[in-house]
Amino acid sequence: MPNRSTSHESTMTRIAHISDIHFGRIAHPEIVDALIADINGSKVDLVVASGDLTQRAFGHQFRAARRMLDAFDAPALVVPGNHDVFPWWRLVSRLFDPLRRYKRLITSDLAPRWANGDVVVQGINSAFGWTIQGGRITDQELQHIKDGLGGTSSEALKVLVVHHHLNEVPGLGHHDLARGRGAAIDVAVRAGVNVILSGHLHVFAAECIQVSAKENSAKEVVVVSTGTATSNRWRSPDIGENSYAMLTIDQERVRVQKRLFDASKKKYAEDPKEWSFKRD
Ligand SMILES: [Fe+2]
Ligand SMILES: [Fe+2]
Repeated sequence: MPNRSTSHESTMTRIAHISDIHFGRIAHPEIVDALIADINGSKVDLVVASGDLTQRAFGHQFRAARRMLDAFDAPALVVPGNHDVFPWWRLVSRLFDPLRRYKRLITSDLAPRWANGDVVVQGINSAFGWTIQGGRITDQELQHIKDGLGGTSSEALKVLVVHHHLNEVPGLGHHDLARGRGAAIDVAVRAGVNVILSGHLHVFAAECIQVSAKENSAKEVVVVSTGTATSNRWRSPDIGENSYAMLTIDQERVRVQKRLFDASKKKYAEDPKEWSFKRD
């Protein structure tokens, strides 16, 4: 999907952050429609989908993902995940054009950007055929961070979207991290990043983390990692939790609300957990 921007007179921005949809491993027959209904009912300004739209990068899985994205009332900003590259048995395609289907069926824009009067969101790709799990940040992605976030007003809240994590989230213990993350954090901090939205781990977390750039002092960044919104690839199969994050951004704060799927009611609902971070 091409970049989309809207003018916005209100001082409040709502972003629904979904991730790890994994068409091919959908957990409940009703869950995708429930997700769409919950997000459309929340009158969001933007839907961010931080990768792993599919389970095996099959055409029919991407087409299902495209239908879901088109069903949102708000524009969708999407980045790919490691499950959106060709699988290992398509080795030549995996190595030489790993995101060919994603680009054809989802979007050819691998550095999507969205902005209104107060918030700017930049997505980057971390999914390549040569790396298996943790993802990688290339020089090209560093340039996208610089271009997308660095040139904008320092007053704006700057959000980076990337499937793989750039920092260890203390509450999640040891987990996959993208190669090249040090340079990415360095560039993002210099560009003034405030919030990083990621997925991949299939576990929900929202934390304010001290990150450091090479020659700068440490900076506090809000990192949000959402669970799998719709799939049965649960990190803890006995819990079987599907979640996404609702961000509400005003002049003072970034509030993060966890939304949870209730299988008995077949709908998403508010979880009591909510986080509030002061804007600097
Ligand atoms: Fe995933
Ligand atoms: Fe992933």
